[in-house]
Amino acid sequence: MLHYWDAYWDLRVKECPCDVHFLEWLKTDGLRDGAIFHFGTGSHHVVGIETATNGSNNAVLGITASPKEYDDYVKLCIERPEVARTYKAFFGDIYQLDARLMPMFDVITAFHIGEFRSEKNDAYGGLTDLEVASLMVDHLRPGGRLITYSGSYAFDVAERDVGKLVTAGRLAFVEKFETLMVFRKLA
Ligand SMILES: C[S@@+](CC[C@H](N)C(=O)[O-])C[C@H]1O[C@@H](n2cnc3c(N)ncnc32)[C@H](O)[C@@H]1O
Repeated sequence: MLHYWDAYWDLRVKECPCDVHFLEWLKTDGLRDGAIFHFGTGSHHVVGIETATNGSNNAVLGITASPKEYDDYVKLCIERPEVARTYKAFFGDIYQLDARLMPMFDVITAFHIGEFRSEKNDAYGGLTDLEVASLMVDHLRPGGRLITYSGSYAFDVAERDVGKLVTAGRLAFVEKFETLMVFRKLA
């Protein structure tokens, strides 16, 4: 059975500010017309909605492992087709990402890396956290940014695995922005 998330997440900025900080970072960074992969949409879908409505014309591909969050995405598309134009989300397990189906991105969020990986993912040959992080870097354009979230309860996993990619010369740390750690892909 798929290790899906039998829960959903409303926007709770005090508990988990990563999406709001990410939107603030995007504004500061000034990315326009870019392609963003977002790990963990929440049922609020704020990253997709905001990027579709703030004039940046950034396109977002989000992943959720929550059936309810995905249902909310379907409702959002039906009710707000102007948002659906640039915001696509799919249901699935991040540990089953298939490189053949991934385009290249300007920015990838890895906020929840390590939070949901267990032996349940091993049961069907799921990727490891390091393999997911590495695949994400493969799918960044030169100079693209990978962003982790220091408020995650599994931040030690992100530090460990993204740290390996830094040591391997594939990423360089750029800046801390609020709770986010921003890395740049090295050519
Ligand atoms: C705590 S919520 C945070 C949502 C949003 N990023 C926020 O900060 O408000 C965790 C998110 O990770 C997603 N998630 C959990 N397990 C996942 C998995 N195996 N693959 C992809 N997404 C997953 C959930 O669907 C949910 O959107």
